[in-house]
Amino acid sequence: MNDKILYGYTGIFDTPDEIINAAEKVSDAGYKKYDINTPYPVHGMDGAMKLPPSKLGYAALVFGLTGTFAALAIMYFMSVLDYPIVIGGKPFFAFPAFVPIMFEVTVLSASIATVVTMIAFFFKFPNISHPLHGTNYMKKVSSDKYGVCLQSEDEKFTEDGAKELLASLNAKDITPIYFPDEVHEKQTVFEPKFISLLLFVAIITSGGTYFALNKLMFMLPFNWMMYQEKTVPQESSTIFADGFGMRPPVEGTISRGNMPYQFKDQPELAAMLLKNPLVPDEQTLATGKEKYDIYCSPCHGYFGEGDSRLRGQYPNPPSLHSEKSRTSSDGSIYHVISAGQNIMPSYSTQLTRQERWATVLYVRALQRSFNAKESDLE
Ligand code: HEC
Repeated sequence: MNDKILYGYTGIFDTPDEIINAAEKVSDAGYKKYDINTPYPVHGMDGAMKLPPSKLGYAALVFGLTGTFAALAIMYFMSVLDYPIVIGGKPFFAFPAFVPIMFEVTVLSASIATVVTMIAFFFKFPNISHPLHGTNYMKKVSSDKYGVCLQSEDEKFTEDGAKELLASLNAKDITPIYFPDEVHEKQTVFEPKFISLLLFVAIITSGGTYFALNKLMFMLPFNWMMYQEKTVPQESSTIFADGFGMRPPVEGTISRGNMPYQFKDQPELAAMLLKNPLVPDEQTLATGKEKYDIYCSPCHGYFGEGDSRLRGQYPNPPSLHSEKSRTSSDGSIYHVISAGQNIMPSYSTQLTRQERWATVLYVRALQRSFNAKESDLE
């Protein structure tokens, strides 16, 4: 019996209060290498054992941040360097769009790596043997008793000292625990038989699936729909020098229906060259009135007198019945709507060309109504 190597001394207690008290006394006595075993987590135990905060949090932090930056780097590489995809002219490095993925990868890598660290470094996997396993002591403390185990590797540990301390705490069943005679170094998980079985199952299932799907059920002239004789956006192509199948818009081209306004900074040219293609019939004026009331009247007033409804939150515009406005050409009013003028913004996104010209006609009608000529009355 004596040639066995001592692992430690164990003692049993009946109530949680006793074990808390025992933990306090043992840590007060200066023991560092000891453990408490209880059937369930006992509140206040880490305080009684004076355990330092777990170092596992550092692993979570390091792996979490690694995940964050790895995700950012990978997305940057893919969507800025390797294969920039043009989506509605959005920037390639679209950081807000990266945030959800960075967050997810952070959480994923932190949680997985923390579990792996815990099992591999803290629990020393694949070593799953422990001298306490299979002892009477372990049977009791995993059922309805509370136990303390003083380990022999502690600096303060002496056989008599440990026995005395446990006795002074009124522990029951004070028992020495020895290391098992033969230690099973080899793990059954890595048995060649088991590994061969795994390999066998993997080869049979993947081979069988491959055969069934690609040989048995493959009938020409049908083929898999995902393989087609064309270049799809994410594919590479040998036709172009940069190897990208998806092409950015050709320099200087515009998309259908989006002709840019050609007199952007040239009001004089616009006033001279642009002619109103519409005639002031009932329908055009109705469209013009509708658009004017929606988009122009908040500042210019329903009749163009410059009486803003915005209560001074925006500078009042000049009256559209001024000499200047009345004598300006249709083209120049069209230009103001299309390109804006000083603090008045452009309305080119809200109004189509047709609607802009209709609004011009309506403004003309308003001006005429304020300065009617004799002939208009006839
Ligand atoms: C947000 C307020 C606001 C809205 C809405 C607005 N305007 Fe103006 N508009 C102004 C202001 C302010 C000016 C004077 C700009 C300046 O300082 O040159 C102005 C100037 C003009 C002028 C030139 C007047 C001149 O004497 O130089 C015209 C014409 C005009 N607006 C037409 C329109 C039409 C048509 C619409 C509707 C499509 C419209 N505006 C909508 C604020 C507005």
